[in-house]
Amino acid sequence: MGKVYVFDHPLIQHKLTYIRDVKTGTKEFRELVDEVASLMAFEATRDLPLQDVEIETPVCKTTSKVIAGKKLGIVPILRAGIGMVDGFLKLMPAAKVGHVGLYRDPETLQPVEYYVKLPNDVEERDFIVVDPMLATGGSAVEAINSLKKRGAKNIKFMCLIASPEGVEIVKEAHPDVDIYIAALDEKLNDHGYIVPGLGDAGDRLFGTK
Ligand code: URA
Repeated sequence: MGKVYVFDHPLIQHKLTYIRDVKTGTKEFRELVDEVASLMAFEATRDLPLQDVEIETPVCKTTSKVIAGKKLGIVPILRAGIGMVDGFLKLMPAAKVGHVGLYRDPETLQPVEYYVKLPNDVEERDFIVVDPMLATGGSAVEAINSLKKRGAKNIKFMCLIASPEGVEIVKEAHPDVDIYIAALDEKLNDHGYIVPGLGDAGDRLFGTK
């Protein structure tokens, strides 16, 4: 069964409070999401394998560690996931970026793929799917399905805020996927918003309404 990690680091929690605050404007919201994404990327990459390399410091020759050639891919779910990408790339500039776009079918209310573009070596890469909000879980499940259909084998999911319902749905559909969360909130309301949440992540990131 995939693990669920809730990051309780004080910096993440502090910044998340301002992300939630309705008084926080678009510019600051975007910057804070970017910073929290970097902090979460730092925590979520603890298990990257290392290898020894020989180097020379100004003092002597020594053996030191570098990340062992792991190929990573970041996959934002359009559109709000885009707000988390740069924060990742600051720490992992060599990671490739795929995109998954989903819309909700008006009759079945199920998410349907309308755009998928992934690096072409999907089978050799570890992927982190990012979306600020894990609400009903439908988009996360479908985005992970999209990656698996194309051969991805090792997938993590990362969001800022999750609902308990969303976490359960993803765990059930994809028991192999670890989930990384900055905060696990109370519930979903009747409109599918996370409570207390932060409102509509896409609108707050891009200044739309
Ligand atoms: N998507 C959002 O942007 N916010 C929510 O609260 C739920 C889904």
